[in-house]
Amino acid sequence: MTKRILGIESSCDETAAAVVADGSAILSNVVASQMDIHQKYGGVVPELASRQHLRSIVPVVREALDRAGMTLGEVDAIGVTQGPGLVGSLLVGLTYGKVLALALNKPLVAVNHIEGHVHAVFLEARQMGRDPLLPAVCLIVSGGHTVLYDVSADRPGPAPAGTVLRYRRLGQTRDDAAGEAYDKVARLLALGYPGGPIIDQLAASRATDQLAASRGADQLAVGAGKPKQGDPAGIRFGEVKIKGNPLDFSFSGIKTAVLYYLRKHPEFEPEILARREALVRGERKAAQLLPLVSPQTLELLASFQRTVVAELVGRTLRAARELDAQSVLVSGGVAANGELRATFEREVPKLGLEAFFPSRELSTDNAAMIAAAAYPKLLQGDCQGAALNAEAVFPLA
Ligand code: KG4
Ligand code: ZN
Repeated sequence: MTKRILGIESSCDETAAAVVADGSAILSNVVASQMDIHQKYGGVVPELASRQHLRSIVPVVREALDRAGMTLGEVDAIGVTQGPGLVGSLLVGLTYGKVLALALNKPLVAVNHIEGHVHAVFLEARQMGRDPLLPAVCLIVSGGHTVLYDVSADRPGPAPAGTVLRYRRLGQTRDDAAGEAYDKVARLLALGYPGGPIIDQLAASRATDQLAASRGADQLAVGAGKPKQGDPAGIRFGEVKIKGNPLDFSFSGIKTAVLYYLRKHPEFEPEILARREALVRGERKAAQLLPLVSPQTLELLASFQRTVVAELVGRTLRAARELDAQSVLVSGGVAANGELRATFEREVPKLGLEAFFPSRELSTDNAAMIAAAAYPKLLQGDCQGAALNAEAVFPLA
C-alpha cells in the first residue's frame, strides 16, 4: 500500500514541507526561503532564523498538503529533520512534527539532514525511473558540510525505493565547508549572500567574456596563501596539500588566498565599495551586480571556482577508484553549481561510471529529501516517540 509521508525540514534558513509517496514520487515540495532576512547580515542569524521558522511552519505545511491535494488525516507518517543544524531552527520543525504525529496518532520518523541530501539523489533518479547502482561514492557538499561517504546496502546493484542505506565516512573537510568558502569569498568581494549562486553565474559569464578569454587566466600563477605581485587579471591557486587522509578536504586556504590577493591589489577596492552600496540599495541580482564587476574580478572568481571544483571532483574520483564504486552521487547546495556538475559529468564516465545529482531544487535544502529518507525507516518500523530531541551535531557516520 502506498505510504505518503509528510516531510518537514527547518535545520537552517529554509522552512520546508513536502509530501512524497513511497520514497519516489514527489506530490508537493514547498520551500519558504529566509534569504531576504539574512542577506543584509551576510550570513544566517540563528535567532532571526528560528523566529521566521515559527512564522512560516504552519502555512508551509498547509501549502504542501494543499498542493498534494491531501488533508492531514490522509498522511501515513511524518518525517522530520532531527539534526545537524541550528538547534533553535531544528526545534521548530521537530516540535511541530512531533505535535502533529501525537495529535493525529501517526508514526514519527526522525531523519538526519545529511542522509536527506543523500536521498535527494535517489529521489531525483527515481522520478526518471532509475536507481543508482550501489556501492556508491557520495559527496555531500553544502554550506555546512563537505563529506565523502561510501554508500552501500545489503545487496550490491540497483537500490530500489525502500532500500535501507548504510554509510561509511571516507573523508571530510578539515576546516570550512565548500559552500562556506563560496559565501566567505562573496562576502570579501561584496557579492551578497549566499555566495554560491552568484559566483556560479559570474564565473560562467566570464567564459563568454572575450577580453578574459583572450587573456587566458591560466598563464598567471599565484600559490594558495602566497599571492605574488603580477597581472591581477588572473589567479591560479596552488595545489591544496593535506597531510593524512587523502580523501579529506580543506577550503580555508583557498579563501585566505583570495583575502591576501585582494589586500595586495588595492585596485579592487573601488568596485567592492560600489557593490557594497548596491547591496545596501537592495540590488542583489547577478544582472544588477554584473555591471559593477570588473573582468579582473571575474577572473578571480573563475579561478577560485576552478580550484574548488578540482578539489571536490579530484578527491571524489579518487575515492570512487579506490573503492571500486558502481556510481558517483553528488548532493547538497553546492551540487547546484554548473561547473561542478559539468566537470563530474565529463570525468565520471571516464571511469565507466555514471554520475547522479538531484535537480537544482532538490540540491539545496528541502523537505522532499527528508520525506524520501524517512520511507525506508518507516518500513523498518524505525519510529520515534515524544522524547525525540534535536541534535545540533549529528554525524551520519
Ligand atoms: O544544502 P544547503 O541549501 O544548506 C546547507 O545544508 O548548508 O547549501 C547552501 C550552500 C550555501 O553555502 C550556498 O552558497 C551554496 O550552498 N550554493 C552554491 C550554489 N547554490 C547554493 N554553491 C555554489 N554554486 C551554486 N550554484
Ligand atoms: Zn543542507
